[in-house]
Amino acid sequence: MHKEIKLTVSGTGFVGLITAGVFADRGFSTMALDVDEKKVAAVNKGETFFFEPHLPDLIKRVVLEKKTLTASTERIKSIQESNVTLICVGTPSKSDGSCDLSYIESAAKDIGQALAQKDGYHLVVAKSTIVPETTRTLIKTIIEKESNKKAGIDFGLCMSPEFLREGQSVHDTIFPDKIVIGQFDEKSGKKLEAIFQHLYREENDEFSGTWETIFGKKVTCPKILRRSIETAECIKYANNSFLATKISFINEFANICERVPGVDIKHIAEAIGLDFRINPKFLQAGAGFGWSCFPKDVNAMITFAKEHNHNPKLLESVMAVNAQQAKRMVQLTEEIVGDLKEKQIAILGLSFKPETDDMRNAPSIIIIDELLSKGANVIAWDPQAIEEAKKENDLGNKITFANSLEEIFDNTDACLLVTEWKQFKKLEAKDFKKMKKPVVIDGRRIYDYKKFRKEGIIYAGIGLGEIIN
Ligand code: UDX
Repeated sequence: MHKEIKLTVSGTGFVGLITAGVFADRGFSTMALDVDEKKVAAVNKGETFFFEPHLPDLIKRVVLEKKTLTASTERIKSIQESNVTLICVGTPSKSDGSCDLSYIESAAKDIGQALAQKDGYHLVVAKSTIVPETTRTLIKTIIEKESNKKAGIDFGLCMSPEFLREGQSVHDTIFPDKIVIGQFDEKSGKKLEAIFQHLYREENDEFSGTWETIFGKKVTCPKILRRSIETAECIKYANNSFLATKISFINEFANICERVPGVDIKHIAEAIGLDFRINPKFLQAGAGFGWSCFPKDVNAMITFAKEHNHNPKLLESVMAVNAQQAKRMVQLTEEIVGDLKEKQIAILGLSFKPETDDMRNAPSIIIIDELLSKGANVIAWDPQAIEEAKKENDLGNKITFANSLEEIFDNTDACLLVTEWKQFKKLEAKDFKKMKKPVVIDGRRIYDYKKFRKEGIIYAGIGLGEIIN
């Protein structure tokens, strides 16, 4: 089947490049499209331009060895030479919280113009996160207008959302929990389902062997759900909104637990997680969620609901709890250190989560802002994200970046653990004792507080009530 399919993937961001890489690894002839010449040149050299585990080896293999992936800025010509196009361009937030669809519009225009001069059936698949009805009202309308062709007759149309996590995106693309296909018509859905069945076919071949060696499990075909286009669009938002709700729920409870002597949110999360209706995942209290997906998608749903005369009170609370949660780290610091003016405060971890250099909506940004507004001097270290952090919110000019983890302890009044990188998990009480005063505020609850306190650390953690014995 992969011999008949020629794929074009519009957009080389997280979703686009990883999807293109994985399809190419399965043997599909794949062309990654982007307007950015530098990104295209990098891909054609077998190189990547953002940090993501397993991606450099994958891209190198498919570009230089298998030669199944190439990249191009010649979008219209490339689409004409293909028969399936995946739209994977970004849909960033606008200042009012709604979704910016301008990249989607340009991608649809490219496809429409290409189809105008092309014979034969072409399948168009929207993978970007787009608010309900966008595939039908925007993508389909633009393609039909530009090409003078009809969806469901001359070209196929599907919406297939992506659920990958940053830092685990290669794993999540090879081993997804589910595939959702929103189909405009039966033929389009059937065709896309056949492509996914081919991608995830269970065989003892090189593809399966490579990934089994890396991740220790066999490639299997996930459940494929074929639904309407609008259902698929809604599933993506419901998925992310529910996960964000779980995090804000546990953070809300963490704040309550801090006020109850002898209670630890970790014990609460462990116990409720054993109820199979709740499950233990996404119940880790901390400094709040970041990156574009949860904040972007929940905000987009809030705006969408309001535009459709519904007041989404629960989703608004999810965002409000999250904004407050990062500031809770600073309150905990003040409760121990007192006035923060001229105090040296260290931030351990800047990225929104470990194994990524992504700084978008990272809780560290809110925490640093709050510390600076209280007159503190901030020093920060992160194993990957320092260069990205310098560009965020003018942090490059506002705070000091340590050259090494060791440097962070010099003359410091409090250390705030914001991102749970493995390097930080290895730290012991003796490391923190190099500080002016060994105050640790654990925003991800990675340390054994009993041991730390016994060894002389002044420890506070999110969701930890006063110890009574
Ligand atoms: C998320 C979704 O998981 C993914 O399905 C979707 O496609 C994109 O958005 P991602 O943002 O990459 O993925 O990371 P994820 O691992 O889900 O973490 C998101 C944020 O939530 C991080 O800031 C993390 O620290 C925080 N988080 C996660 C918690 O605070 N507690 C938890 O229990 C889990």
